[in-house]
Amino acid sequence: MAVPPEFIEDLRQRVPLSDLIGKRVKLVRKGRRFTGLCPFHSEKTPSFSVVDDQGFYHCFGCGAHGDAISFLRETDGLDFMEAVERLAGMAGLEVPRSAPEDPQRTRQRKAALDILEETTRVFQAALQRNDGQACATYLQRRGLAESVIATYRLGYAPRSGLRTALAARGFSDEDMLAAGVLRRSDRDGELYDYFRDRVMFPIEDRQGRVIAFGARALGDAQPKYLNSGEGPTFSKKNVLYGWVQAREGLRRGLPLVVAEGYMDVIAIQKSGVATAVAPLGTALTEEQIGLLWKLHDEPVLCFDGDAAGQRAQARALERLLPQLQPGKSARLAVLPSGQDPDDLLQSEGGDGLLKVLSMARSLIDSLWAITAEQHDLRQPEQRAQFWQAVRDQVRQIGHGQVRGAFSDEIEARIAAMRTAGRASGRGGVAGGPVRPRVRRPAAGAIHRHRAICALILAHPELVPDMFESLLGIDSGDAGLEALKKAAIDAVIRDPDLDAATLRHHLNGLNLAEAIGVLEGDEMKARMPFDPDKISGADAGQHLKELLQLVGGASGLFSSGASIPR
Ligand code: UTP
Ligand code: MN
Repeated sequence: MAVPPEFIEDLRQRVPLSDLIGKRVKLVRKGRRFTGLCPFHSEKTPSFSVVDDQGFYHCFGCGAHGDAISFLRETDGLDFMEAVERLAGMAGLEVPRSAPEDPQRTRQRKAALDILEETTRVFQAALQRNDGQACATYLQRRGLAESVIATYRLGYAPRSGLRTALAARGFSDEDMLAAGVLRRSDRDGELYDYFRDRVMFPIEDRQGRVIAFGARALGDAQPKYLNSGEGPTFSKKNVLYGWVQAREGLRRGLPLVVAEGYMDVIAIQKSGVATAVAPLGTALTEEQIGLLWKLHDEPVLCFDGDAAGQRAQARALERLLPQLQPGKSARLAVLPSGQDPDDLLQSEGGDGLLKVLSMARSLIDSLWAITAEQHDLRQPEQRAQFWQAVRDQVRQIGHGQVRGAFSDEIEARIAAMRTAGRASGRGGVAGGPVRPRVRRPAAGAIHRHRAICALILAHPELVPDMFESLLGIDSGDAGLEALKKAAIDAVIRDPDLDAATLRHHLNGLNLAEAIGVLEGDEMKARMPFDPDKISGADAGQHLKELLQLVGGASGLFSSGASIPR
């Protein structure tokens, strides 16, 4: 592992930094130094300098600073040893190791890489042959063009023949077993090809070497996906699928999406509007989060819009918070229920995906909203519990400065929520006669509740003053309540929210059905006013009346004009 420092120094001398960086950035000589456009941030005029004789680079724009090794680590995501290997390769030197790896393991690892590469070729070739026809048709049906298949090196694992093909190239059974392409049967001890009659997704390391496979059944065979086991080349928790292709997409300035599946990654990349990676069939690991941040400061994690997706968001937050660093974050996006990114792209194309991405919530908004979901904010003791839960989450943040910044913002939001509560005239010290908080409406009252919701959607500025009254009523209709709660939540988070932005936000939360009801013909016929057309003052007046009515209080303004029939 340890490399003598003299050797690193030697490498620095032999590989001019401008040669290394010049492969990536167009550099212009200016006396002793070179300048160019900074590869670490986007800029139009050069503020990036490379000084060969001292072996460092510096950007006056973003402050990026380092040497050949840090450059390779940052731009190619290599670790220290990989960067040293790369430089040694450029200098034509062998890396001297003071404590060499176990030679047997090194040999087996090397053999495994060769086998996996050869296997990939066998599978790619099989896809072009007769027995791969069904697989080729399958990929075509899923919308994958030849070029995409080639980029991701997709292939077909035939029912048999891999072992023979590899043996013909001189690989031993023992090495094939270690590489994970061959298995020994528990029943009769016979050797058999592990992947049979499946679509093959080679999993590459950050240097593009195949280190494992994901294999999808063509039909309904179980399991749907079969993955290589852990082995000399493969440690699942340290790998993200699609890394090499994503890095290429990021150079074009595309957003980075973290999806769940192989197909999603490929579909996103293919769409051209974003680029993607995926963990391998598990929740993101700590290591994978670190890897993501090598690629992008703010990757967007996609979740299903259903209850399981909600839980997955909470889990992702738990993983992300302890690791947050200044400038490193993530956003959480919610997909239409039951759709993965691939489905969404098939049905709505790149625009559909971009819409979802544009509505992704920042980490702090996600933290606030997801925790809010778990509490009934109408009850003061639950509100207090909510505040406590959010504060507990913030305490999970490991980095002091980041924790401080989160804490400041969370405290401001809590304070705003408390003020909003007081402004409504309820729950204050003076407190009038005690009334039950939640009133179940009579059946016909649903239209009034809908009118209330339509009014706050059209005039979100009214929400802060009526916050408690709004939460104190219950239509008994789950969809409508979810919509109301989401709208109130959004306004509490951002009191300056305008109607259009609010709608945009709500559209992303699978509330389309509830919104549809509010806009439907039936409601139009019942409402004597159009919420979108009346003034804020009128809307406020209608809202007060309606709240009085559904709240059961004696109507101070019961003119009747604004009451939906
Ligand atoms: P999904 O079941 O959502 O499949 O699994 P998918 O990616 O949408 O695949 P298609 O569109 O039906 O072809 C998501 C991911 O979970 C892992 C795989 O990485 C898969 O891509 N997985 C799933 C497994 O590892 N094993 C399984 O049996 C199923
Ligand atoms: Mn899918």
